[in-house]
Amino acid sequence: MTGGAGFIGANFCHYWASAHPSDRLVVLDSLTYAGNLTSIAALQGSGALRFVRGDIGDGSLLASLLRDERIDTIVNFAAESHVDRSIEDPASFLKTNVLGTQVLLEAARGAWNTPESLKSCRFHHVSTDEVYGSLEHGAHAFTESTPYAPNSPYAASKAAADHLVRAYNRTYGLPTTISNCSNNYGPYQFPEKLLPLCILNMLEGRALPIYGDGLQIRDWLHVSDHCRAIEVILQDSPAGETWNVGGSTQDPNIAIVGMVCDLVDAAFAAAPQLAGRFPKSAAAAGKGSRSLMQHVRDRPGHDRRYAVDSGKIRQRLNFTAATDLAAGLAGTVRWYVNNESWWREIASGEYRHWYARQYPPGSGHPQ
Ligand code: NAD
Ligand code: TYD
Repeated sequence: MTGGAGFIGANFCHYWASAHPSDRLVVLDSLTYAGNLTSIAALQGSGALRFVRGDIGDGSLLASLLRDERIDTIVNFAAESHVDRSIEDPASFLKTNVLGTQVLLEAARGAWNTPESLKSCRFHHVSTDEVYGSLEHGAHAFTESTPYAPNSPYAASKAAADHLVRAYNRTYGLPTTISNCSNNYGPYQFPEKLLPLCILNMLEGRALPIYGDGLQIRDWLHVSDHCRAIEVILQDSPAGETWNVGGSTQDPNIAIVGMVCDLVDAAFAAAPQLAGRFPKSAAAAGKGSRSLMQHVRDRPGHDRRYAVDSGKIRQRLNFTAATDLAAGLAGTVRWYVNNESWWREIASGEYRHWYARQYPPGSGHPQ
């Protein structure tokens, strides 16, 4: 697993270690600001996985790791993943997401160089629905044959990586698969993304930044469903296929944030001691977290709507997302409330700098 110390990768490590305890897991992660070893420390401590700090762009490291560990399956989560950062610094996205993926593909091609290994090995590339661009209201959801039309440097870099993965399959016969999934939410997500950012801001009594009118639509998928989808693809998909995975929700951002506000308020009402733990929160002051919502400048090139048609994976691999949005959001709120030490560590350092760059004092934006 590359990028196994990030949000989805860490969830996948936990999922796989528990579902397949006899498998040997190796995580390669360069630990950028988004990588957090604490998220997989328990697995490392119990010997369920080996962690290697390194870059997917380091070909010689990859070659020795693939050889020494006799790796037969690669799941590539490693990426720069935040759209707003890609607007600030596109080059780092091209370096990891495009060039890094190509180096990883090349290493797999070098290691899996016999007809037997080409049959028994698998390179799964984790991609995004953002490669398809923005949908008009009422337009049909993205299918696997929707033309690519990425609008952010992040989406463009993921699109380029997908093309390379496809090309390595068609040209060299590398046994690859790709999943293009929608917005994930759940435990261990870095608090620069909408939902964890809003949950932490609610607990800390900071404004909730709603970009533009807040009517943009995302298709929210619980990360545990994403992990199961990857498992099904690894087990049952022929090489050369791509799979869309979505949660089939179509609520605007402002409604999703509103739901999370209500969940946080309900958690405070049910557990009065939370007001003592989070004295700056709006809930503790009895004001209601919705009072913290604040419209801010919109993201340049902001995609209006994503919707994923998961018909192919449902019909061909018998997979459907199982987590109901309200239950998934409630569990996510509970996780952040119960795992304060995890996010306190993150919510200092680089994160503070990022937040200050996004919302400098005097910008009229949330502090
Ligand atoms: P994340 O930003 O939380 O984690 C990325 C991880 O990759 C981090 O641990 C980081 O240290 C590591 N990494 C970055 N550059 C690296 C490099 N050059 N070499 C090795 N490791 C490196 O991302 P995430 O949200 O967990 O996303 C994982 C994958 O899923 C990404 O490929 C992303 O594009 C894709 N995806 C994410 C979402 C989502 O909603 N989060 C949705 C669809 C697809
Ligand atoms: P994000 O979590 O960054 O994921 P992505 O851009 O990959 O979809 O953003 C989800 C949606 O929430 C997106 O429409 C942008 C919006 N958003 C806000 O309104 N405020 C915020 O502070 C952030 C981070 C995102």
